[in-house]
Amino acid sequence: SRETTVVMDARKDDSGYETAVKLLQAGEVVAFPTETVYGLGADATNDEAVRKIFEAKGRPADNPLIVHIADFQQLDAIVSEIPDVARICMEKFWPGPLTLILPKGPTLSKYVTANLPSVGIRMPNHPVAMRLIRQTGLPIAAPSANRSGRPSPTCAQHVWEDLKDRIPLILDGGETAVGLESTVLDCTVSPPIILRPGEITQEMLQQVIGDVSMDAGLLEEHHAPKSPGMKYTHYAPQGDMTVLEGDPKRIRTSIRELCQQMLLEQPNQRVGVLLTTNQTGDEAFCEQLDQMGVEWIIRPQGNADIQETGQHLYQWLREFDEKNVAKILAEGVPVQGFGAAVMNRMRKAAGHSIIRV
Ligand code: TXA
Ligand code: MG
Repeated sequence: SRETTVVMDARKDDSGYETAVKLLQAGEVVAFPTETVYGLGADATNDEAVRKIFEAKGRPADNPLIVHIADFQQLDAIVSEIPDVARICMEKFWPGPLTLILPKGPTLSKYVTANLPSVGIRMPNHPVAMRLIRQTGLPIAAPSANRSGRPSPTCAQHVWEDLKDRIPLILDGGETAVGLESTVLDCTVSPPIILRPGEITQEMLQQVIGDVSMDAGLLEEHHAPKSPGMKYTHYAPQGDMTVLEGDPKRIRTSIRELCQQMLLEQPNQRVGVLLTTNQTGDEAFCEQLDQMGVEWIIRPQGNADIQETGQHLYQWLREFDEKNVAKILAEGVPVQGFGAAVMNRMRKAAGHSIIRV
């Protein structure tokens, strides 16, 4: 169904919240910022409201949603049991980018959990999300606010590009800080297992609850998916993407050779290069690429640390799509700490086309 989408800036005044609260309480959907990515929220106890999320996103019905809360008291109605490890994680990491899979309670819509006996819960660390959830007084089901198969949105503009005319309201809270979706930790098994890596890393979790495993399918191909969401090919850019992993100098040498080869084979195609670090000599390197005819080179603006790469990765991938780039060569990052989350998303976007140098 088509409707006019309104964008309201939550940082300006209270009118955006007031509109959003009314819509959510009336069973409508609202896009709102969290610290990870923008979410598309609805009353998690209302079947019709939750169905509107799936419809607006074009999301398969068997891929369950995350439920967002703002107060610990909300847990009683939506989960049936809280294992000790989960309790410790909540105390340590909430509000924050950690989703805990727990046995579900009685009040949630069956559409939220896609009929699974478990549910993913998180308390987002974002003032707009927290205030919105508090004011509605409801658990809010919210997947990322993108059309299915597109990168998750990290600013209101991305939500607009994907969901304009499909939802009534986007609450604008500026650019998100983390840029990649929350860590998903399954606490229904022992030891708990990471189903999706995020800013809360395996190392951080191990420090507080001991043994934590990471699903093998997250970083390598050819493993059966454990999480319902993992079986879907997530975002893939329109262009053919390859990730180059290894020493930054050798990565640049390979990128230069590959660009040369690609532009020799098809001189008119658009080639895009994504660098995730700053190296001495990069100015000259990019000038060489430019002279070869590489049309789009994206480089970090700030620190070029792993945090910035995570924060902007989806935005950069959207830019390549906008420019209709046919071939994308991307510099990978070491798979440590937050780097596991970054590489999980990069390798998936590249369909596991990886060159190790
Ligand atoms: O950072 C985030 O988590 C963002 C913001 C909006 O909070 N949300 C988000 O939601 O990324 P979504 O729906 O795009 O991803 C939810 C992931 C999916 O991979 C889904 O399969 C998994 O969590 N999930 C949800 N419930 C589950 C369950 N009961 N068991 C296993 N996996 C579950
Ligand atoms: Mg998503």
